[in-house]
Amino acid sequence: MTKDEIRQRLEFYQDLGIKTIYRRSVTVPIPNPQPPTPVLSLPTIEPPQDSLLKILTDIGDCKRCRLHEARNKIVFGSGNEQSRLVFVGEGPGADEDQQGLPFVGRAGQLLTQMIEGTASKEGIPIKRADVYICNVVKCRPPENRTPQPDEMEICGQFLSRQILAIRPQAICALGSTAAKALLGTKEGVTRLRGKWHNWRDIQVMVTYHPSYLLRPYNQNAKKEAWEDLKKVLHYVYD
Ligand code: URA
Repeated sequence: MTKDEIRQRLEFYQDLGIKTIYRRSVTVPIPNPQPPTPVLSLPTIEPPQDSLLKILTDIGDCKRCRLHEARNKIVFGSGNEQSRLVFVGEGPGADEDQQGLPFVGRAGQLLTQMIEGTASKEGIPIKRADVYICNVVKCRPPENRTPQPDEMEICGQFLSRQILAIRPQAICALGSTAAKALLGTKEGVTRLRGKWHNWRDIQVMVTYHPSYLLRPYNQNAKKEAWEDLKKVLHYVYD
């Protein structure tokens, strides 16, 4: 870890109200090793009685990573805070950065159609406003590049807290960045999609990111994305 990353990590723990952390001692081999002194593992990330409001307050005017430099607005998340279903995207694009809301651009319109179209076809009475939608990183990456691992790690802590505060029955991970953040895998969406995975005892369905589905040469994936969504909606709302 670089000095900068250590500083950001410490600031993050400070924001959570954690005042003391213990450094793991460097292990030097000794001829007759003593049993290791227990190292206090860092407290669980989420403070007790966490809430979306507390998380938003903790994020504050965040400057924990370089993504703050070019952002207009932090895009925290939107929708029903008691939703049984949470959608997780990658990070805000230009429209989201302007409005401070997730999935409001072209990909967002497709996501709305996917949610509402599938629900209505399947006889499930929900609208987009009934679910909760957020992203792995809360600030727009320059030129919409993929978030870097340190940015995902720093901001991913807030994502974990959001999901744990909502405690949905299922999460729908949109695209490989969300899948990687939640499942810690480098496996591509094609292999992960359509099957149930698990994040802290919450069911996770991976599907294609709506931006991917907007590209003309990926039209075959649309059908699969609709199948995935159907599975999630029936699992959560039946
Ligand atoms: N793409 C994302 O991953 N998230 C948004 O909020 C918008 C586009």
